[in-house]
Amino acid sequence: MTDTTAPALTPPTRPATPPATPPATPVVARTRDELREARSALDDGDVAVVMTMGALHEGHATLIHQARQAHRHVVVTIFLNPLQFGPKEDLSRYPRTFDADLEICTAAGVDLVFAPTPDVIYPDGDPGVRVSAGPLGDVLEGQARPGHFDGMLTVVGKLMHLTRCSAAYFGQKDAQQLLLIRRMCRDLDFPVRVVAVPTVREPDGLAMSSRNTYLTASDRETALCLSAALRAGAEAAPEGPSAVRRAARAVLVREPLALVDYLVLVHPDTLEDVPEWYRGEALLAVAGRVGTTRLIDNLPVLVGPGGGALETFTQA
Ligand code: PAJ
Repeated sequence: MTDTTAPALTPPTRPATPPATPPATPVVARTRDELREARSALDDGDVAVVMTMGALHEGHATLIHQARQAHRHVVVTIFLNPLQFGPKEDLSRYPRTFDADLEICTAAGVDLVFAPTPDVIYPDGDPGVRVSAGPLGDVLEGQARPGHFDGMLTVVGKLMHLTRCSAAYFGQKDAQQLLLIRRMCRDLDFPVRVVAVPTVREPDGLAMSSRNTYLTASDRETALCLSAALRAGAEAAPEGPSAVRRAARAVLVREPLALVDYLVLVHPDTLEDVPEWYRGEALLAVAGRVGTTRLIDNLPVLVGPGGGALETFTQA
């Protein structure tokens, strides 16, 4: 006997779309006690930190996204560290955009934002004991900004301790800072994996920076010569170091409104100029003033046959 019963009509199945739940706002800790409490709620093992001075942009967001993809928990610190600003630098005019920063952290799925004031980080005022960057902290940016890297390393070390992170993400944009943080972790036995993230740029090549907000429209045009010079230098990389320097300098001299502080091709570990026979990875770095704003940029390059721009260096 054949079964003539019509199959029961079942409604077409739709893929279950979860209700659109807005991402949860991260816990915001402002004091050491709040941080301790919020941090202990996160699993101990796998916490990545992204340290910032606020005024977050796509560059910071990219660091956060990369940390988010690789780790169970992500902590963002927002702290404008007075210790790393010189008396004539831009601490007082540095952009403060906490609400927008928190929105970026929320959208990126950050677990915890630590946003202390200076008295929380430096309860006894100026710390008498600081991390010393050593000779690598005296060249390039260190020459232009005496004491900057000691102040930077001191706060990075403190924030590593306070957040108890296992990994920390930093941008290649600040190449000398990244190198010094790696050195500090190695030389002073910080149990933290330092991860480098390639520089995030505007479509026209300008490296993203919180300080770009200081630029007028015409400053911004002028500033493009920095990244253009780096690209020109990288294109000449197969021909050797002096060709790189020459090609980059040729772009800069066409833009007299950019007051160049330095343009160097240096070894990525020693920051010493690479000699003409050198073949391998090198850092092409530039700094200059445009209008009232000091800007820095760099490109990791491979010098020699088949050479050109690299995203980051291959060293761990
Ligand atoms: P800040 O300038 O806010 O930068 C925070 C982090 O974002 C740094 O690791 C920096 O290299 C990275 N970053 C900035 N612009 C970037 C870009 N265009 N592409 C990729 N990464 C970018 O650097 C500092 O703060 C401070 O010195 C700090 C480390 C927080 C210590 O105070």
